[in-house]
Amino acid sequence: MRKNFGKKTWLFPCPVLIVGTYGIDGVPNAMNAAWGGIYDTNQIMLCLSDDHATTKNILRNKAFTVSFADAAHVTEADYVGIVSANKVPDKLQRAGLHVSKAEHVNAPLIEEFPVAIECSLDHVNEDGIVVGNIVNVTADESVLDEKGNLDIGKANFVSYNSAAHDYRVLGNKVGNAFSDGKKLM
Ligand SMILES: Cc1cc2nc3c(=O)[nH]c(=O)nc-3n(C[C@H](O)[C@H](O)[C@H](O)COP(=O)(O)O)c2cc1C
Repeated sequence: MRKNFGKKTWLFPCPVLIVGTYGIDGVPNAMNAAWGGIYDTNQIMLCLSDDHATTKNILRNKAFTVSFADAAHVTEADYVGIVSANKVPDKLQRAGLHVSKAEHVNAPLIEEFPVAIECSLDHVNEDGIVVGNIVNVTADESVLDEKGNLDIGKANFVSYNSAAHDYRVLGNKVGNAFSDGKKLM
């Protein structure tokens, strides 16, 4: 037996993207975005409401960072998703988050989140989807393996569970992509 739930914006896993930007006065900001993903081969897309401080910052600066929230900082990640810099301009400071300027774009990196993508704005499409060019990926050495590759097992990234409005840690490796399926060829 299966149960029908009707129209739901469910997608699993859903990312918890922390979008970093600078405000008009240079104050760093960040927001939580679950509706986003890879677009084409070297771009990222975000579905952002146009009234967010973040959206205005992206349009003005033509730059943003996208970090992945981790289990150690879900409270901070959620906070930046429920409080707007339109009302609380120093929200990052209040969240206890620390920033440094990204090396390749005019946007802040949030030190507490170990992996981030530095993006330049490519365009906003007719539906208001923000499309950014991936300029660089930066990762803290704490999430690298002995060969210097990203080890997401060390990163403890979280996923947004839209069916229950909670956050889940992404789990263990269970297979090899572009490979396991060959067993059935
Ligand atoms: C789990 C979660 C996911 C969210 N996903 C999105 C999203 O994909 N797009 C969006 O426009 N807002 C999303 N939001 C809401 C924004 O993060 C929120 O309105 C935030 O306060 C905007 O901050 P700003 O005005 O400082 O940019 C999400 C919030 C949460 C808690």
